[in-house]
Amino acid sequence: MAYANCLQILKDAQAKGYGVPMFNVLDYESAAWVIEVAGEEGMPVEVGFFHGFAPSFDPIAAALTVKEMASRVKAPIGLHLDHTPDYKTIAPFLKNWDSVMIDGSSLPYEENLALTKSVVEICHPMGVSVEAELGHVGSGASLDDIQNPDHYTDPKKAAEFVAATGCDSLAIAIGNAHGQYVAAPNLDFGRLAEVRAAVDVPLVLHGGSGIPDEQFSKCAAMGMSKFNVFTDLNMGYVEAVKKAIAAGADKRGMLGVMLAAKEETKEVIRHKMRILNPNDLHLYR
Ligand code: 13P
Repeated sequence: MAYANCLQILKDAQAKGYGVPMFNVLDYESAAWVIEVAGEEGMPVEVGFFHGFAPSFDPIAAALTVKEMASRVKAPIGLHLDHTPDYKTIAPFLKNWDSVMIDGSSLPYEENLALTKSVVEICHPMGVSVEAELGHVGSGASLDDIQNPDHYTDPKKAAEFVAATGCDSLAIAIGNAHGQYVAAPNLDFGRLAEVRAAVDVPLVLHGGSGIPDEQFSKCAAMGMSKFNVFTDLNMGYVEAVKKAIAAGADKRGMLGVMLAAKEETKEVIRHKMRILNPNDLHLYR
């Protein structure tokens, strides 16, 4: 099975009632481990790439890694370009990516709509699907970003926005935020239900780290399809490396450290996959 288009992955998840995590990766190891876990679980995953990570993981090397490692597992593996501010940022990736996010969520509504529509008009003829964001998912470091409903997605506007832009999936704000949360998130499930009823494209939850497991699972059960995770993987990886060194794995140098950190970090990935799979499906083993 292997490499698959992200939109197809999300449509399948929507039809079968599970959530697909997208892990933003920083290096060969994190990309390969995400794909290995997907293979072991027999469930699809998306590998996310952020253009700002290029100094750590060359984008072409990242795409080749994902496609090669994907060819070794049965589970469908997607490759998605996360948060971009404009088409200029997207363009260099289009040779290797078929799924991108345009993030105009900080702009006034009409400007977000116009930007998203223009990106969709360029990308669709090339077979590239586009995720957009309406409402604004801010920073977990800001109480206002988490708790002020003014930042949340308006269900009526969501319907109008999706119809007017032609975007393929929609990231929404319901009390989720990027990075570590200063206060425990308390997601607005009523609003999720209203947005879910208002649009039929797959819905995306950004800021998937630090959300209590039961809230994460409930989002999947309510029809949300894609869950972006970076901080929990990034910090989990560091903790695993520290633990490996503390246990003396560095006596074998980086080889010892990476082999020890691998299993620990894979469990972080596996945990997220399992809480998004309430029916314990293993569709691609
Ligand atoms: P976290 O770092 O909070 O997991 O958010 C990731 C994200 O939403 C990337 O788009």
